[in-house]
Amino acid sequence: MRANIIGTGSYAPPRVLKNQELERIVDTSDDWITSRTGIKERRIADNETTNDIATKAAKSAIKAAGVSPKDIDLIVAGTVTPEMLFPSTACFVQANIGANRGIPAFDVSAACSGFLYALDVADKYIRSGISKKALVIGVDIFSNIIDWKDRNTCVLFGDGAGAVVLSAEKGKSGILSTHIHADGHYWKMLYTPLGVASSPFHNKPAEKSYLKMQGNEIFKIAVRTMGAACQEALDSNGLKAEDISLLIPHQANMRIISATAERLGLPEEKVYINLDRYGNTSAGSIPLALDEAVKKGLIKRNDIILFVAFGGGLTWASAMVRW
Ligand code: UT7
Repeated sequence: MRANIIGTGSYAPPRVLKNQELERIVDTSDDWITSRTGIKERRIADNETTNDIATKAAKSAIKAAGVSPKDIDLIVAGTVTPEMLFPSTACFVQANIGANRGIPAFDVSAACSGFLYALDVADKYIRSGISKKALVIGVDIFSNIIDWKDRNTCVLFGDGAGAVVLSAEKGKSGILSTHIHADGHYWKMLYTPLGVASSPFHNKPAEKSYLKMQGNEIFKIAVRTMGAACQEALDSNGLKAEDISLLIPHQANMRIISATAERLGLPEEKVYINLDRYGNTSAGSIPLALDEAVKKGLIKRNDIILFVAFGGGLTWASAMVRW
């Protein structure tokens, strides 16, 4: 049994925040942001929440799959910016789309690798025969956790959501492999201290919950781990870089993506890029890019698609799919 992606969907809030607008908020320039990151604009959720945008992406994936919400028997969402500490985003989506009561629904926390972590879990439920149709979501609203006075971070991120419906099917197509990794020793490179430690029994006051990042260090580790994760996916499937039809990498920084593609020897037309329009949408990034690539007709049957991500944790992950 393999997990086939039978429908994709995505949603990005309509409010566009261009680099020029950021020039009025912090000491930065369109030129700096474009040359150092490749980002020109990003979307910002003003009146929408994580549950709202996850639900929109989920509904469009279910519609594209041509199934009913009642067919879904598992919901896994990757997010680190849930609307509430609990219930999970997946539980809210379950109720919002009218999925059956009683099916498992939960979130996984792996920052920008969140979608691939969620995909890994759902794939294992399908391979083991427990799930027949799974809804997998990647969603984040980083505009809520960014320090809008910190030019080192506020120019990088945006808000967005994407989703896929997986169906258990026999045959050669579907998810060929997933690999997920973490190294908690590096946690300080990218984190957001949520202010939960505020009880009167706690002698350490809660920190402000802004995202903190060591950009330079992350950059180097990202290039190394993304390259290694791609190679691991190729090796475990007995494939070579030239077999890849399309690489859909986590959209963090154009220079990280180019270095990854260069290591693999992949030409740029085989790499899907949309970070110029969305910035880094964390767990939303890969499913948002996948949905765009599908809608543009860039993916055809039997194509080999490679997904690769890295993020806070640190975490990194890959998935190889035969479409
Ligand atoms: O999904 C994972 C999330 N994290 C990431 O993807 C982060 C990965 N890292 C990066 O993408 C890059 O390291 C950054 C884009 C964050 C930074 O690029 P960089 O080429 O590593 O620049 P830098 O940090 O070495 O900074 C160079 C200069 C500094 O000034 P000085 O010290 O040389 O005078 C910074 O203060 O650029 C300055 N700078 C800025 N200038 C204008 C930093 N941010 C900005 C800014 N506008 N927004």
